[in-house]
Amino acid sequence: MTRAHLTLHPAFRIGTVDRRLFGGFVEHLGRHIYDGIHEPGHPAAGPDGFRRDVIELVKELGVTTIRYPGGNFVSGYRWEDGVGPAGERPQRLDLAWHSTETNRVGLHEFQDWLDLVSSELMLAINLGTRGLPEAIELVEYANLPSGTAVADRRRANGREEPFGVTMWCLGNEMDGPWQLGHRDAGDYGKLASQVAKAMRLVDNRLQLVVCGSSGRNMPTFGSWERTVLEHTYDDVDFISCHAYYQEYDGDLASFLASGTDMDAFIDAVVATADHVRAVKRSEKRIQISFDEWNVWYFTRWNAQEGTHAVDDWPVAPRLLEDVYSVADAVTVGGLLISLLNHADRVTSASLAQLVNVIAPIMTEPGGPAWRQTTFYPFSLTSRAARGTALAVTLDAGTVTTSRYGDVPVVAAAATTDGDAIQLFLQNRDTTAATTVTVDLTGFPALTSASATGIWDDDPYAVNTMAAPDRVTPRTNDTATLTGNVLTVTLPPVSWTAVTVA
Ligand code: AHR
Repeated sequence: MTRAHLTLHPAFRIGTVDRRLFGGFVEHLGRHIYDGIHEPGHPAAGPDGFRRDVIELVKELGVTTIRYPGGNFVSGYRWEDGVGPAGERPQRLDLAWHSTETNRVGLHEFQDWLDLVSSELMLAINLGTRGLPEAIELVEYANLPSGTAVADRRRANGREEPFGVTMWCLGNEMDGPWQLGHRDAGDYGKLASQVAKAMRLVDNRLQLVVCGSSGRNMPTFGSWERTVLEHTYDDVDFISCHAYYQEYDGDLASFLASGTDMDAFIDAVVATADHVRAVKRSEKRIQISFDEWNVWYFTRWNAQEGTHAVDDWPVAPRLLEDVYSVADAVTVGGLLISLLNHADRVTSASLAQLVNVIAPIMTEPGGPAWRQTTFYPFSLTSRAARGTALAVTLDAGTVTTSRYGDVPVVAAAATTDGDAIQLFLQNRDTTAATTVTVDLTGFPALTSASATGIWDDDPYAVNTMAAPDRVTPRTNDTATLTGNVLTVTLPPVSWTAVTVA
């Protein structure tokens, strides 16, 4: 048994937790939309083809803003293909995922679905194969009430009121050589600046996200952010970060510590953005939109990827359908802890993705929908983390990892809404429990503690269609409050949410 000691105080504020921190991401990719959220003829589908069982799970997950329609997909997408009479929409090649895009679901249908799940749209534009003219027309189509050919086309297509989209992404992963229309930082920065200015001429309420690096391991990381922000600092509100983690070669200790890598990623991007701020003598601070993050067994996908026959362009193939374990869920919990601990600068984030594709929710065509293990840390955090993020003072032993060196055995984040404290804890010890004590002297009115979490004798246990509830949250009944000291024992490889009320 190892030990850790935490101190919390109401004066140690990080910042307000923005609800957009609990966003999601839906891409036209594999079975995400078609045979995922949209399956006409399924017993649970409504007349619009959207599965109501999936909608219920998305609501339960508690995703706020949802980024759409990609991802790599957006860099070849013509948004006009997805509006107008469904029967007249063209089929297109999706070069990013070597599939056929039917365009059966486009902007209108997706907004209808968002209305059903009570989430807000975050729209990405294509800066790969397209540019400024198509971007400003899309803003006009989406946000102008009426009176122009483009706005009236939206009304004729069935949406009288504008979509009113606030958050916009200026392309996707433009630093990545795999991206259609990939550019160097200078070329992308100039383009993004021009497009951002033009979009704001149509609607000056927009909040714009410029592409940062698609990973901290990219060779251009750091210099990409600096150059792009030198061009766009005055034009944008956010810079994006993307990060995916996986367990390599049975190295569970490093995998569980992925949150330390996310911490370093965020700190470096904040430092770079603030450097550009200093050089520009700007009053403004750029925020981070961590708009793709998750566990993704990328090496499995890489191994699967091969050459494709020229006539082989499937509709909605099974792609990136990772099945997540308890260890994956505990790592996702650790990544959420990292995001909360940067709530002052990370004010938007998107779990990538939502249904079937590296997703917390799985479906079977004609069959059920179920929750993966990773569903739980997200839904519990989204529900509980409210108000102010508090800085946690941590005095803990360390575990040694091959990727990140010695890291604290426990990762912790805390929030308070004034009445209660929510504490999120990850035990990175792969074999031993850790007992955590928390000094709550600064919160004398608290009287009770309860805890729930994810752990299992088998850290590789998963949920499947046959056993959808093999892994569910468990009550941790070791949580006790004695005077001003909270004590809770965390099982090995676990993630725990504690409420002190
Ligand atoms: O989420 C899967 C893919 O990962 C996205 O399409 C892309 O943006 C990233 O590389």
